Formats: sequence, structure tokens, C-alpha cells
Amino acid sequence: MKTLTDIEVLEGVKVLVRADFNVPMRNGVIEDGFRIKSTLPTIDYLRSKGAKVILISHLESIDGSNQTLKPVADELIKMGEPVVFVKDFKKAHEILEVQIKNGDCVLLENLRFFEGEKANDTHFAQELASFADIYVNDAFSVSHREHASIVGIPKFLPSYAGIQFEKEVAALSKVFNPAHPFLFILGGAKFETKLPLLQKFMNIADTIFVGGALANDFYKAKGYEIGTSLVSKGNLPVAEFVASSKVLLPVDVLNQHNEAKPADGVLKIDKILDSGPQTLEMLKAEISKARCILWNGPLGLYEEGYKSATLGLARLISEATAQGIETIVGGGDTLAAIAEGNLQDTFTFISTGGGAMLDFLAKGTLPGIEALNASEI
Ligand code: 3PG
Repeated sequence: MKTLTDIEVLEGVKVLVRADFNVPMRNGVIEDGFRIKSTLPTIDYLRSKGAKVILISHLESIDGSNQTLKPVADELIKMGEPVVFVKDFKKAHEILEVQIKNGDCVLLENLRFFEGEKANDTHFAQELASFADIYVNDAFSVSHREHASIVGIPKFLPSYAGIQFEKEVAALSKVFNPAHPFLFILGGAKFETKLPLLQKFMNIADTIFVGGALANDFYKAKGYEIGTSLVSKGNLPVAEFVASSKVLLPVDVLNQHNEAKPADGVLKIDKILDSGPQTLEMLKAEISKARCILWNGPLGLYEEGYKSATLGLARLISEATAQGIETIVGGGDTLAAIAEGNLQDTFTFISTGGGAMLDFLAKGTLPGIEALNASEI
């Protein structure tokens, strides 16, 4: 994978940068600009070398509808980047030739307004490539998607990894050979998407804590009565994990009345919404023994406001970082908890990736990495 320092000349060169500006928004206002900030080192490096920077991204709201990137352009301007927002792709060539000087940048409108992006359409990839001389992928967090802007463009332009992209690969690769004891904490939902990851880390981690809705699948397999608690679809092969002494589950869980229910022995509960205080105590003890901690996914129904255990865990892991423990964290709700706890700079590495982080950890590569490696131009 070639990186920015492999580019010999940047003065006056048009560089197409795939960023991930898919940021949480509420009523048109950006709630967390972490992903935007993460792209600044790449933008600043290219601008400082006199490149013309063309930023591209997607932006979807929680309901899956595509949103204009205009608020992101405004945010970039607030962060000190002199960005020209280009809504109409047809005008991009002219703007780049006439208006944009060396060291300036433009942001093109949301790629997903075009069907060709998700369809990985060759013509759409070619159209995007036609704006520039060089392509840089700094969108690690979308690089699990086989979309035109991720895997299509490298077929047409000399292609490089951006600074955040490089950092993600280096930091996440560390957990394939971690310092021991290595504690893996996996929360969230959709067991079926996390099964390959659990299988892989059964061989690497010393302890695996399974929390959030994933733990409900384990409780169900144990025959606990968990009422209408969120569980994954289908018959999932949880037995091998349930039987393993490496795997820990929450020892108490909370329902809507905030009643802690011991989960060892017998459990009968209407609906599990969060982990309880005894679980956090258990995690505190595990964290104090670890030399390396990997965490992805909330311990409760975070988006519905059941945040207490996740926020508590974020604080515990942040404190461990201050003690010199290597801590690598990521995932949408995990990032939200870190922002809510004001803990942004208190981990060894915070991944911008949600699904991309999980896929990279499970497979050791992503379609976006493969596309950069295969680019022969
Ligand atoms: C993310 O938010 O995980 C990335 O931006 C990818 O978004 P997507 O799941 O809509 O493809």
C-alpha cells in the first residue's frame, strides 16, 4: 500500500481524497466532528505541498436517507480549511480549473446521491477519477464497502492511503500480536455479523467479555428467561463460546425499572436494557489485569438512552490508558460514549471505523486496502 510520502510531486496536482464525513447529525447540526478532524492531517499535508484537494464522501442520516454535505463544508471552514462546496458535479471541472488555486480545496456533494456509487459502477468511478491526477483513500471506515469511490477509482488513478487510513491499519494490526494479558470487550448487537471476529479472537485473547445484546444470545442459549430482550436472528452457534472459560458475560443486568438482576444461576427478566454495577466491578478487575484492551460496542441499548454501563466502561478503559495499558477502541456508539464522557484524547487509539473496524479485525484486510494494493497505475 503506497502512502502520501510516496507521492513525489504535489505542487499543482489535483488530488481526489475519499474521506468519511458520515458524521452523526441532529436537525442539520453535526453532533460529533471526530471523523472530520481525523481527515485534517491528510488535507493539511496535501495543501501544504501545493496540491488542489478534491474531497468526496457520503453522508446518511440514521433513517438511511442521504443528506447534503453542506454542513460538513461549513464545519471544515470553521476548522480552518478554505473549502468551496460544489453541489453540481457538472460544474466541478470548471471550478477546479478557474477558481481553485494550488493549496485550495473543494468538497463535492454526497456521492450516494448517485446510484453508481453503491453499485460500484465503472462509469461513475471514471467520472470521479476524471476530476483528478491522483487518488487518496483516507476513509478507512468505509473501506469495507465495495463502492465506486473505494474500489473503483484505484483502477483509473495512481492511488495512495491517507494519514488516518495508515494509522488505522497500523493500530488495529497491533491486536493480532498483542501484549498479554489481552482483554477483548465486544458489545452491541447482531451476533451473526460478529461471529467470525469472536472465532478469531478466541485464539488471540486471554479473556473475552461479551456484553450488550450479544450477551442476550448467550443467556438464551443457557435457557435464561429474558422476555422481550433484543436477540439476534436465527440459530447461532453460541455453544462453543458459552462453554469456554475465556468468555465472560455480564453478571447483572438492568430492566426499565433499573432493577439489577443477578445473571448467574437463574435469570428471569422482562427486558434487558443495560448491564449493572456488579458487571462494571467485574470489568474493573479484568481491566486492571490487562496489558492490552480492545473494545467495540455498547453494553446497553445506548441509542435508546440506556448508557450508564457503556459510559462507565469508557471511563474505566480511559483510566487504564493513563496507567500505561494499550487501549484500542471503536464503533459508532462507543465513539458517542467517548464524546459524551469528554474522553476523546484518553485512549491509545480511537478507530473511526464501525463495521470497517470489525471486518478488518476479523479478516486482516478490507476491499479498500485490496484496491489500493492492486492499483498498478
Ligand atoms: C460508517 O458510518 O460506518 C461508514 O461511514 C459506512 O457507512 P455505511 O454503513 O452507510 O456504508
